[in-house]
Amino acid sequence: MVGEVDVVGAKNSVLKLMAAALLAEGTTTITNCPEILDVPLMAEVLRSLGCSVEIDGTTVHITTPSEVEHRATSSAMGKLRASVCVLGPLVARCRRAVVTLPGGDAIGSRPLDMHQNGLRQLGASSHIEHGVVVAEAEDLSGAQIWLDFPSVGATENILMAAALAEGTTVIDNAAREPEIVDLCVMLQQMGAKIEGSGTSTLTVYGVPKLEAVQHRVIGDRIVGATWAFAAATTCGDITVRGVQPQHVNLVLEKLRIAGAEITTSDEEFRVAMNRRPEAVDFVTLPFPGFPTDLQPMALALSAVADGTSMITENLFESRFRFIEELVRMGADARTDGHHAVVRGQQHLSSAPVWATDIRAGVGLVLAGLCADGVTEVWDVFHIDRGYPDFVANLGQLGAAIERVGENA
Ligand code: EPU
Repeated sequence: MVGEVDVVGAKNSVLKLMAAALLAEGTTTITNCPEILDVPLMAEVLRSLGCSVEIDGTTVHITTPSEVEHRATSSAMGKLRASVCVLGPLVARCRRAVVTLPGGDAIGSRPLDMHQNGLRQLGASSHIEHGVVVAEAEDLSGAQIWLDFPSVGATENILMAAALAEGTTVIDNAAREPEIVDLCVMLQQMGAKIEGSGTSTLTVYGVPKLEAVQHRVIGDRIVGATWAFAAATTCGDITVRGVQPQHVNLVLEKLRIAGAEITTSDEEFRVAMNRRPEAVDFVTLPFPGFPTDLQPMALALSAVADGTSMITENLFESRFRFIEELVRMGADARTDGHHAVVRGQQHLSSAPVWATDIRAGVGLVLAGLCADGVTEVWDVFHIDRGYPDFVANLGQLGAAIERVGENA
């Protein structure tokens, strides 16, 4: 595959920025939004809380009333993981929240203990009953919070609640993902006082009120890196625009070791592979480690690489379910606990395969592009949740791919 591809805003940023709009009365405008299924779902969640939401292509306008509804129990809540990020803002604005446990990808156990513990430290009670999280606080006061693990969602919820708490909150072992930095930037524009953004210690000086603002979402590093893997796996040459190369440094370094030629500039990078990739090991870790969201793409590359790769998954144990599908296509791969060993093959062979989540769906498409014959990937609606124009982009890059059946 050869050509250029433009990447828009990050799924895992825009949904949290939309939740953050609950923190301020008035109209928040978010630009560079991806046109993916999860954005209208999050809009539905916000509407159920009293906001009016208008989606105009890649721009989303959210008007938040002075009084926000505290019960987030609409059916949309169970359809995406990011819906849980209304918890922190609702506790901050209403001092109570009833939030349906979130849905999203079936990639392993996804408890909320760190979200709840963080809110408890700030003075809110929190328990789970009948499938909803109930949180209540007379007042929210700043606290010292240590996270067991740099959880993205817990950091976001605590950050948003702390922004309107009284006094100073310190979150230690906070997540450092670029999407957290993006949230901090928007909260700071809104008037929040936050120090240490992008580091593992966030200090939040609570303020009584935040203002609605306009904000541009950062480019989607996972989508951008997916195209980098697409180039490396199919021996292609793809230029990716709209993603900051420093957000995908480790990914590009891995692909360089695999044999790709990498060039980077401001908001652009190019990955060119002119031979069969060499096997590389991958270990998933929180940012700046190798992203778990790219683990299926790493497996697809390893399946056709020259040599043996070891892939270690440290975040979501069920993501290795993807391997069963790769094996249908002739991959030589097996797992043992957190590790997978893949012996690269010259060729994969086409087979009907099933996407189990967004990233697994994309990994299967990449594998299909390297397989002899016609590969059918089923349940591709998963891909719609995270990749705008995926099939059209692939077609423009020269892939022989067609969407058939429902929603074609
Ligand atoms: N965890 C707990 N307790 C908690 C929270 C998390 O044990 O209270 C554990 C999880 O089980 C997991 C680890 O901590 O093992 C990391 O989870 P984290 O909270 O960081 O993940 P998340 O916020 O649920 C976001 C992304 C995921 C991405 C992860 C890790 C969104 C909506 N989702 O999930 O994205 O894989 O961070 O980077 O932002 C995807 O886009 O395909 C996707 C799954």
